[in-house]
Amino acid sequence: MLMGGLKRLEYRGYDSAGVAIVDDDGAIETAKRAGKLKVLADELAANPLHAGRTGIGHTRWATHGGPTDRNAHPHLGDEGRLALIHNGIIENFSELKQELEAEGHTFESETDTEVAAVLLGREVRRTGDLREAFRATVGRLEGAFTLLAVHRDAPGLVVGARRNSPLVIGLGEGENFFGSDVAAFVEYTKRAVAIGQDQIVAITADDVVVTDFDGVPVEVEPFEVAWDASAAEKGGWSSFMRKEVSEQPEAVANTIRGRIVEGEVHIPELESFGDDELRGIRRITIVACGTASYAGLVAKYAIEQWARVPVEVELSHEFRYREPVIDDTTLVLSISQSGETMDTLMAVKYAREQGARTISICNTQGATIPRESDAVVYTHAGPEVAVASTKAFVAQITALYLFGLHLARVRGTLSREALTEALTELQEIPAKIETVLGESERVAQLAHWMADTRSVLFLGRHVGFPIALEGALKLKELAYIHAEGFAAGELKHGPIALIEPGQPVFVVVPSPRGSASLHPKVVSNIQEIRARGARVIAIAEAGDAAVLPFADEVIRIPLAAPLFEPLLAVVPLQVFAMELSQAKGLDVDQPRNLAKSVTVE
Ligand code: G6P
Repeated sequence: MLMGGLKRLEYRGYDSAGVAIVDDDGAIETAKRAGKLKVLADELAANPLHAGRTGIGHTRWATHGGPTDRNAHPHLGDEGRLALIHNGIIENFSELKQELEAEGHTFESETDTEVAAVLLGREVRRTGDLREAFRATVGRLEGAFTLLAVHRDAPGLVVGARRNSPLVIGLGEGENFFGSDVAAFVEYTKRAVAIGQDQIVAITADDVVVTDFDGVPVEVEPFEVAWDASAAEKGGWSSFMRKEVSEQPEAVANTIRGRIVEGEVHIPELESFGDDELRGIRRITIVACGTASYAGLVAKYAIEQWARVPVEVELSHEFRYREPVIDDTTLVLSISQSGETMDTLMAVKYAREQGARTISICNTQGATIPRESDAVVYTHAGPEVAVASTKAFVAQITALYLFGLHLARVRGTLSREALTEALTELQEIPAKIETVLGESERVAQLAHWMADTRSVLFLGRHVGFPIALEGALKLKELAYIHAEGFAAGELKHGPIALIEPGQPVFVVVPSPRGSASLHPKVVSNIQEIRARGARVIAIAEAGDAAVLPFADEVIRIPLAAPLFEPLLAVVPLQVFAMELSQAKGLDVDQPRNLAKSVTVE
């Protein structure tokens, strides 16, 4: 059961893994190994642990101490009588370690986690009670932590605490669960409770008790998980990424579903924002990281054009620390697939403290960022398991576009016809993505030919620019190839120096039907690099003949209004990176050094 849960959560970190079981004789047994979960599974198959009814398990993304067997969790305290796992970073661990060492405690690993285990052990000794010991321990810790622990003298009990790092409980019949997200236990129960900030939870097979850090009981509100376990399974696909790339038409369709009523955009989740308030917004700041930030950059073009409100997009970790100018007329929109990215969570909290109103775009029910925001617009992409984001990206753009159109309607900045036209365009996207996916075989071939490529450049302009950035990011993440995305117009101001004979360059070509001057400008950019020997792969609209004489390869996308092209143009770039990764024999679902949900700053 533990290994099954870890398998479902492995995308969160996979450089080492471990489990601890309180066996039926009341002894604690642990097994832990550096490497992916498979290494631990092999170890357990060769040397099984005794059966037990209570246990904890962990997959790690190393912060303090490299990914070694010793640094893997669980860590032991109270002379091996307790086992503890931890997500997050304990910032004051070195002071605590000195204090404990001065008292004669010794340490086996370089982790901050072991300090929490030893401290908890000391407190168990002092108080004689695991729950009370938890209260005393969390009071001493600074930073971000989800901790879970079991103790030999309290078989059947698991105690957990949460600050700034996610924790959910699964409520079963005669069994209860903890997980970093619901995927861990959705196979057994769909009733879940999201644990709030600074809470301690004690579970047994029949009971769940939640208190705050002072021991004051807290009421909890269970929710039903909307998807079942099979949604997070590969179901015959060779990788999650391949499955998720193919699910993009549904990801967009499901995100639109129910939000266009009688030809008008309708987002009930935004009811807490009155129309007056939306009219009063003077500026929108989008905060996000990685792929989500590129969804934000695409949306900037659309929201500004439609709703005539300035939009800035900032990486969450930069925003938080530069004293941005925010007031109650600023709307801070956060975008996060997981809803747990610590950098983005901190940016949202900071924005609220400064008086801004906050809306989150999120794909995960019950996650922390939506709970810390004034409202949430969920993307309904379904669980995304592959570490690099694909279907969540198109769903994020979809949700942001719906939001932009809602705002434009309320602010009266778009005519009825223009609104209807945009909504119709959006509704046509799923079928068009399907058409683009039909080109995948050709893109795969290209990737196979280019398996030895050492560097790839991506160019785009207007909404094609963030797509160039995303194409480059996918290639870095999945195929470990040096890749850079540029605004096509910026080329001549520097990057053109990189062009040498044979250099592959992907160009996202805007529609010739769009803004009059854009298309010929990009075609000129193509000529400039072609003249210097670049190998040009153009992503261009069906029927665009102007690119043909200058491109070595042309990948076609169906006709769409210019603002909607990103939803199509990104698909071949995702497929290219995925295929190149596979051609190089890499793990496309779990690229090295990454984790899907980065819950540390
Ligand atoms: C990590 C992942 C990226 C993802 C980013 C933001 O770095 O590896 O694929 O784009 O986090 O994640 P979020 O869950 O906030 O969208």
